[in-house]
Amino acid sequence: MLFNRTIHSFKDARRIAKQRLPWMVFDYIDGAAGSGYSEQLNRETLQKLWLKQQILKNVQKRNIAVPLFMTRPKLPFGIAPMGMCNLSSPKADRLLASLSAQFEIPIGVSTVASTSLEKMNELSNGNAWFQLYLSGRMEGSYRLVNRAKEAGYDTLILTVDVPEVGRRPRELKHGFKMPFQIGARQLIDFACHPQWSISQILLGKPKMANFGGEHGVFDRTESRAAATWDTLAKIRDNWTGNLVVKGVVGVEDSKRLQSIGVDAIQVSSHGGRQLNSSKPAILALRDIREALGPDMKLFYDSGIRNGEDIIKAYAMGANFVFLGRPFSFAVAANGAVGLQEITNLLAEEVSITLAQLGLNDINDVTYDALVKNSVV
Ligand SMILES: Cc1cc2nc3c(=O)[nH]c(=O)nc-3n(C[C@H](O)[C@H](O)[C@H](O)COP(=O)(O)O)c2cc1C
Repeated sequence: MLFNRTIHSFKDARRIAKQRLPWMVFDYIDGAAGSGYSEQLNRETLQKLWLKQQILKNVQKRNIAVPLFMTRPKLPFGIAPMGMCNLSSPKADRLLASLSAQFEIPIGVSTVASTSLEKMNELSNGNAWFQLYLSGRMEGSYRLVNRAKEAGYDTLILTVDVPEVGRRPRELKHGFKMPFQIGARQLIDFACHPQWSISQILLGKPKMANFGGEHGVFDRTESRAAATWDTLAKIRDNWTGNLVVKGVVGVEDSKRLQSIGVDAIQVSSHGGRQLNSSKPAILALRDIREALGPDMKLFYDSGIRNGEDIIKAYAMGANFVFLGRPFSFAVAANGAVGLQEITNLLAEEVSITLAQLGLNDINDVTYDALVKNSVV
């Protein structure tokens, strides 16, 4: 065994991260909209799906790689865009980008990443996808799209489920703001987590690296409520690469996106961070797949915590799957080692789940992999 494994499950990563991170940072990552119901329901709905076992099928030679646009990542899952990753650990962005390069898996680089989009594409060896939040005044957004183009990105993720930032009580209670505003409450929190605080001081306070100087400022709380289907059409006209629209759970919205000619839809409820009473994203995936047919590319994120969940998302119609918090907690828990551990364990779980299902290839996972009456 190459590493002394300390993370054997998502729960391990979360528990260790919770010990290491200031309460404010842990609650920023772990938190969700409202009472956290949507976040919880995403996970519970996935858990309730039963996988159909098949025995004696000779499953010695198993493949877990799937095609993705013009590439073939070595793993069937990627890293969802997350803002300010370096709050987890000062080198988190770089470590995530290296992981993406190592396995040739996509990493979503957030508009509010803590390393510049140019650097992230370089570090990920061209596997990075740029994630765009529209700004209130659209010029800033178009500038970012052009920067992504110039930096050599071939895929743009447009996140559309944040017309306003969701109300997340666990962030509000700590006075969480980006950039940080440090008052007495935060000082006590940081003093109680000296290991995190010292490393942040030594390696530089996390910043929103795509902004500042000539690139202007980013106001996280700014309303993006003015965005319309015309805005999307303009982005489509401006971007000749792959366009992924992220944050979709509606069938009618998906049909319209398909007719506009987006390259993929990322079915996602933002990990429950936006709408407390959102439809469980995994059920939305099944309904959207059914409505749009087999050819539309559908990606999935929200609530994936292990390899069985990944297989379930493929069974419900995904062409690729992304995870957010599991990567964030793994890097907070144990840096590069933590990331290798969570990645290896997810890959291993996907592979042994295939064996249990009597399958040799993840590309053969269909709706039939689920026990029918377990799906509501
Ligand atoms: C700390 C954190 C920051 C996030 N920041 C962004 C972001 O900047 N842009 C975006 O499109 N989604 C963002 N998301 C949502 C993720 O891309 C993804 O939809 C979600 O984390 C998936 O759910 P999971 O965490 O249960 O895997 C963020 C999620 C977390 C946990």
